[in-house]
Amino acid sequence: MVPASTPARPLINALEQASVLDVPAQTIASKVRQLLGGGKLKQAISGTWLGHPAHPPLTDLVIGSFLSASVLDLLAPRAGERAARRLITMGIAASTLTAVTGFSDWADTELSDESVRRVGLVHSEANLLALMLYFSSLIARRRGARMRGALLAFAGAGVLGASGYLGGHMAYVRGVGVNQTAFDAGPQDWTAVGAGVDLIDGQMLSAEANGTPVLLVREGGNVYAIHDRCSHRGCVLSEGKLESHVITCSCHGSQFDVRDGTLLHGPATVSQPSLDAREVNGRIEVRRVTRG
Ligand code: FES
Repeated sequence: MVPASTPARPLINALEQASVLDVPAQTIASKVRQLLGGGKLKQAISGTWLGHPAHPPLTDLVIGSFLSASVLDLLAPRAGERAARRLITMGIAASTLTAVTGFSDWADTELSDESVRRVGLVHSEANLLALMLYFSSLIARRRGARMRGALLAFAGAGVLGASGYLGGHMAYVRGVGVNQTAFDAGPQDWTAVGAGVDLIDGQMLSAEANGTPVLLVREGGNVYAIHDRCSHRGCVLSEGKLESHVITCSCHGSQFDVRDGTLLHGPATVSQPSLDAREVNGRIEVRRVTRG
């Protein structure tokens, strides 16, 4: 998963294979899921209201505040001391919500990939260590030990940088938090999916169109088709529960309208790609929805 030339590859490999982390990771993830449930709180934390995960922009606030304090320590150690203290206080305050959103996203990875879960656990522990260093820095500054406070903040920045690298690996290399249908909108031209008369009214069927997994539903004489890979973490939607025109994902409970893929309930943050569907000589064909 990591390019061969990167110096971080041995570390990432070691973390991804560290099965010793599985028991604590599983225990914590299970507690987090229990605490957050699947209602409005979970949706808010997941970023369903925002249209993408809430965790990444919050990390910018934390990292920006902490690193700005260190920049002031370097460029204006005396004149910038008061502002540096305020920035560290702001970073500590923003850390709580950032940690909650991060734990929530991480807890949802458990079902899909244990190696990502291991890296995520180390990422969160490193963030906790960085937070403790910044907290110590703030206490030292308030006691008048400015130099000690600055050194503690530099140490915190180092740990934060390493932790941020792990976070980047999870998002950009392993695709955590990324719309799982982003690169697969379905076939451009009408494509047969190998299903037809066997699709009973009110029932769903899993099919494939040129490699795109498709969920088919016949309802009231119409055939509807949406992408069968859940945009949240990639679970197979057709393994979920269909009630009327609403499909509930079996993994984390996201709900979509099968008639057009509209997201009805998180933790997913985007709708499912919808496909045009038609019946030709008893066979169903689909193609991506063309707009405009
Ligand atoms: S994979 Fe999480 S709700 Fe579908």
